[in-house]
Amino acid sequence: MVFKTKSKTEFFARQEILNLLLKRVEASKCRYRQNIALLGNQSLGKTSLIFELLRISKNPDIIPIYLDVKPKSIEALAQNFIGVLLYQYLSLEEDILEDNLDFLIKNSRTKIPKTIQQINQIRKLLKEKKHADEIYSLLLDLPQTIHEETQKTILLIFDEFHNIDSLGLRNPFLELSNKIMVQKHTMYIVVSSAVHSAQLILSEKLSLLFGNFEIVNLEPFNETIAKTFIDNKLQNIQIRSAFKNFIIQFTGGYPFYLDAITEQLKTVCLDNDCKNISEKILLSSLFETMYKDHGILNQFFNNKYYRLLNNGHMNIFPEILLAIATGCRKPSQITTRLNRKTRDINKYLNKLMQMDIISKKGVFNYINDPLFENWLKHVLQKKQHSFNINVHLAAQKFEEDILQSLTTFIDESKKDVPQRLKEIFTMFENDIIELDKKRFMLTRFDEIDIKDNNTISMVRARRANKHWRCYIEKDFIDELKINEVLSDTKRKDCIKKILIALKGIDVNARLKALEARMWIWDQNILNQLLTLFEKPRFMK
Ligand SMILES: Nc1ncnc2c1ncn2[C@@H]1O[C@H](COP(=O)(O)OP(=O)(O)OP(=O)(O)O)[C@@H](O)[C@H]1O
Ligand SMILES: [Mg+2]
Repeated sequence: MVFKTKSKTEFFARQEILNLLLKRVEASKCRYRQNIALLGNQSLGKTSLIFELLRISKNPDIIPIYLDVKPKSIEALAQNFIGVLLYQYLSLEEDILEDNLDFLIKNSRTKIPKTIQQINQIRKLLKEKKHADEIYSLLLDLPQTIHEETQKTILLIFDEFHNIDSLGLRNPFLELSNKIMVQKHTMYIVVSSAVHSAQLILSEKLSLLFGNFEIVNLEPFNETIAKTFIDNKLQNIQIRSAFKNFIIQFTGGYPFYLDAITEQLKTVCLDNDCKNISEKILLSSLFETMYKDHGILNQFFNNKYYRLLNNGHMNIFPEILLAIATGCRKPSQITTRLNRKTRDINKYLNKLMQMDIISKKGVFNYINDPLFENWLKHVLQKKQHSFNINVHLAAQKFEEDILQSLTTFIDESKKDVPQRLKEIFTMFENDIIELDKKRFMLTRFDEIDIKDNNTISMVRARRANKHWRCYIEKDFIDELKINEVLSDTKRKDCIKKILIALKGIDVNARLKALEARMWIWDQNILNQLLTLFEKPRFMK
């Protein structure tokens, strides 16, 4: 976890995931335990979600133990574990509490003697400053002991649980999995922003027979929720739909970024007694948060960037990231730009992937966090290459840059989807791509045209005597519509059939399309393709 705003914003949305977690917590009381792994990129709101869960799931029969695991020593984890466990237990029993370990132990001694005895044993070992593995094992026994003494269910949450691997223990996940198997009254939620490492731990070290983890992936806010979030934050302030869409695309729908930017917009409007967000206010707010030294997002990304550099590859990582951020997405392009060996570049790309900074779709690399990419491109690069310390000039240059992106975004949004697809198809160069978990080649086409027929359009792309046919339907697709499309695809020269359902598709129509080996894209898949080709996302 790194520096973030002390936001006053209330927790927003995430209802589906909250309901699922609540259901699992409720079930754990009735001896049906399902452990959960909550995974998602940095700043998506995992910790906030857990705190919201703890707030709404308060129950006298459940002792919640939330632990933020830092890559420090076992001592720090032990102190925290014991303190939180006793505090939470006592807070279910009585009102007056002191946040002090001696107080907590004194007040629990007669109520849970066995647990306290075990805690004292751990504290004795801690004083001797050795026996890390023994301490860890005893700590993991505490939930079971306190359950036996109180009959309460334990909800044990390890935030950033992959850090357990950095505590200098012999085999921490094997030990954890052994405990999980026998502790039927403890529900575990493990949380991680190191998605890549966490998935490896879960599949290789924690894939247990009786304690399997249900993986819940946290995604950014979708378009509709992000819009509602902005509207809620900017009550009584007018903002053009195009600006709203631009902010969502620029931030990738991450709640933290949306919050920081809308907070700034609101402040400017209130300070100037203005009820309408102009282009000038939008640009200056982005400058204030993203570029200025004290800007909340600038500080956040600076931290992220310097932690990355501390990883040992001081020179090469920034160069690779800047190359990707400015459109060199294929290893061959990065190799040429940096004048390095392909083998070396591939090695560093893999390392960045393991660190969850970048991901790969076929040969295309992209930076996971869209606003970090924008910061690298519009802030870091500019600051690195500027000897000018005139802040007004910097503001002007930054705002010109963003205005250019905003104008492109608005211009692209005016084009219809078939036109935008045709433009993308002309950019194909026989590269391998991965989309919707399928790998395929983006054929370099000889000819591309568009045919319109009522609400349906077809982009036909020809290579020699073979075709791709891509159908884009503006309305909901029912069985009648799908029959119409399918009759058009029964041609031997058609080697790829894609159906883009922008307003959704009926269940039977979907089955029919799949039977006919059509590939159905939703808005999300379409946007993944647009993003890889540096094009703004399609928004409704
Ligand atoms: N659902 C939400 N509603 C409102 N604001 C949110 C929501 N989720 C996240 N935020 C905002 O984003 C900030 C970051 O969230 P949080 O710290 O929970 O993310 P995280 O995924 O735990 O990050 P990290 O990976 O760094 O631990 C919060 O301080 C809050 O301002
Ligand atoms: Mg967190």
